[in-house]
Amino acid sequence: MTFAQRTSTLKPDEIREMIKITSQPGFINFAGGLPAAELFPGKELIEASRIAIEKYGPTALQYHSTDGYIPLREKIKARMAKIGVDVPIDEILITSGSQQGISLGGEVFIDEHVSGDRDIVLTESPTYSGCFNALKTYLPEFIGIPTDDEGIIPEGLEAELKKYGSRVKLMYVIPDYQNPSGRAWSTERRKAFIKLIAKYQVPVLEDAPYRELSFRGEPNKPLKAIDESGMVIHLGSFSKVLAPGFRIAYIIAKKDILNKFTWASQGAFLQSSTAGEVIIDQYLEHNDLDAHVEIIRKTYKERAELAVKMMESEFPDNVQFCRPDGGMFTWVTLPEGCNSRDLLKLALDTKVAFVVGDNFFPKADVFNCFRINFASMKPELIEEGMKRLGKAIKDYLKK
Ligand SMILES: Cc1ncc(COP(=O)(O)O)c(C=O)c1O
Repeated sequence: MTFAQRTSTLKPDEIREMIKITSQPGFINFAGGLPAAELFPGKELIEASRIAIEKYGPTALQYHSTDGYIPLREKIKARMAKIGVDVPIDEILITSGSQQGISLGGEVFIDEHVSGDRDIVLTESPTYSGCFNALKTYLPEFIGIPTDDEGIIPEGLEAELKKYGSRVKLMYVIPDYQNPSGRAWSTERRKAFIKLIAKYQVPVLEDAPYRELSFRGEPNKPLKAIDESGMVIHLGSFSKVLAPGFRIAYIIAKKDILNKFTWASQGAFLQSSTAGEVIIDQYLEHNDLDAHVEIIRKTYKERAELAVKMMESEFPDNVQFCRPDGGMFTWVTLPEGCNSRDLLKLALDTKVAFVVGDNFFPKADVFNCFRINFASMKPELIEEGMKRLGKAIKDYLKK
């Protein structure tokens, strides 16, 4: 038996594997990418599920077209129009999580070259490690673009676009409260980015699962709202604003691009879960999602502020960290020369976990950073976890 070449890139996802270790009793797990389960609107979702099956059973339990359940797409259309993305519903495709949207992006844009020059995917450096998992089976070369506190650095991006020209097939970005860094792009950087991708005609996956989770006022408008080139393919998801278990998300793109995503989905998955879509539609019909998002924001903001306060008091002065304005993560940078994998061993001994930073770099070559998820942790666990982590860092730096 011979496996396909592309399977040689497959290995277990380190973050998902970590769940096995950290589910032991007494563990404080800053490693997961999970939203806070206690905020899932359980009662409202039970009611939405009841209505979905009782009233719409024959529809909810049946196949539907690949594009997705029309009433849900109409509601997504209305929500997006409010933030400057005014598109017809045939430019909206429902997917099983945005993870599937990223993977479809690979299928649509990347040619597999087993040898010679590979197609290039540009990403922020660092970026969501799941994008590598989703795209690597198409055998691209990933090139990271430098970022700072304001987001992607346009000069760095243009240099790579000039250097690699038509080999660049796709760009993947997370402009809002990025996983892993917690940062959001400034308005200036957004404008500069949009100009560049229009100039170089590069398709962009804008992954925006955290966009609505802002701690300070109105969230930013998506890149899609200021894109006139049609190059931006927006990925939205109900995972972080409602519940990830439904696996319901959506892609918004110009019709000629979206058709390719739809046809690729038809072959690979037929469609997303009709029942999940009808339940979410009924939730939106009878509840105020914005009011629910407000509860999530408030809770995550309190947790972020506590995490920052604890890091200020427990971490040594030469350790830097992000003070996030939204989302679920903060990003810690140890002094040059440190390796967060060595720190993790000490941290696991004290039953606290984080995700090592090299996972988030295209070439896995930056070792002194790590990611913390504060969102899913109750305040007392944040306090205790940061104390344990602060001690582990001090012990590590003494060595
Ligand atoms: C940046 C980013 N994109 C996509 C996903 C996957 O989201 P979904 O549940 O919509 O597939 C995650 C999950 O953590 C994420 O952080």
